[in-house]
Amino acid sequence: MTSTFSLSPGGSLRGDLRVPGDKSISHRSIMLGALAEGRTTVTGFLDGEDCLATLAAFQAMGVPIERQESNTVIIDGVGLQGLKAPGGPLDMGNSGTAMRLLCGVLAGQEFDSVLAGDASLSRRPMRRVTEPLARMGARIDTTESGTPPLRVRGGQLLAGQRHTLAVASAQVKSALLLAGLWSRGETCVTEPAPTRDHTERMLQGFGYEVRRDGSTVCLVGGGRLRACPVDVPADISSAAFFLVGATIAPGSDVLLRHVGVNPTRTGVIDILRLMGASIEVLERREIGGEPVADLRVQWAPLHGIEIPRELVPLAIDEFPALFVAAACADGDTLLTGAEELRVKESDRIQVMADGLGVLGVECEVRPDGIRIRGRESLGKGVIESHGDHRIAMSFAMAALRSEGSLEIRDCANVATSFPGFPEMARAAGLGIRA
Ligand code: S3P
Repeated sequence: MTSTFSLSPGGSLRGDLRVPGDKSISHRSIMLGALAEGRTTVTGFLDGEDCLATLAAFQAMGVPIERQESNTVIIDGVGLQGLKAPGGPLDMGNSGTAMRLLCGVLAGQEFDSVLAGDASLSRRPMRRVTEPLARMGARIDTTESGTPPLRVRGGQLLAGQRHTLAVASAQVKSALLLAGLWSRGETCVTEPAPTRDHTERMLQGFGYEVRRDGSTVCLVGGGRLRACPVDVPADISSAAFFLVGATIAPGSDVLLRHVGVNPTRTGVIDILRLMGASIEVLERREIGGEPVADLRVQWAPLHGIEIPRELVPLAIDEFPALFVAAACADGDTLLTGAEELRVKESDRIQVMADGLGVLGVECEVRPDGIRIRGRESLGKGVIESHGDHRIAMSFAMAALRSEGSLEIRDCANVATSFPGFPEMARAAGLGIRA
């Protein structure tokens, strides 16, 4: 894939699609499969660069992991005491999830390790995990500004703690729970608002006891993980681009198959519906402890809303796409309470506002959100994605309502979460060339 997307304006989306596997669940399937006793078979694995970084890290720590055709991965788990010192620094690429969750795993090992990442990851805040891990006895050095590379000292004795998180973050919660596996006593995490709970669900699937009490989740260290098959559903965060694209493009009608609809992830559906979208959730079922459904989305006129704050953590990765929906809605859409967007793969508030500005959309940027004034149609021009996969794919969908061609720069990182995006979007009717 070249790093520029060229888009011709207009068109509609139609088709019966299965977007690639869930990124969060794919990362966790490698981690828990590696730490379990026995052979774990993962199907529907996302072979995007982020999850492949996690896979390579565990291979580097001596875990036999084999990738097979059709997104199947076989992991011969080494057990909680079986990881070996890697030969060099572990490269997490663009992936905040990989780096933060691995902090939790590496904090409990006998050996030293180093976690590094690309330019974007090297700017992201890591003290949110290293500080609470330090309270458990971990020793992890960051740069002076609290960013990677991270140096993790092995051989520390960890003790379970009760953590109350200041930020609603599934990555922090998961890192602490993972460190809790090697800690004496009980580790508890209380979150300020519900966040994705894939770690808790998958730990239970692997036979580990996890206790939930309201907004607190606890586990006791020293147990064992038993291998368990994992069927990864399609990623609702990838489906989101088609949910928005089909909603804004007259004549669209798309069926998205086998999408993960864990209630901690479905904020995008709720927000789009509040704006007037037509999304049906069909054939709800549960697979491997995760709710799954088919989603049918058809074109519908949208109106601006004030996005309820409690939905923010439940749609945290979908705001770039939702901003494009807001730009096509009648009236203003206001987002508040979303300062976390500033520390994702890019500053998603500013980068989206800049791109929407190119398309003639009026935005008022706030420290914790944005007000977007919708338009009948969008302008044309050249947009910088700043290497952020979700920014690139969101603006690609904006072409469905633009008056002229769009060029989106720096799109190579689309491969971190959605390999094959241009091809799938083109087959559905988007005028995209990559
Ligand atoms: C993720 C948690 C979220 C999300 C990220 C994946 C995870 O990050 O943005 O893409 O898999 O736990 P935060 O925990 O920082 O909100």
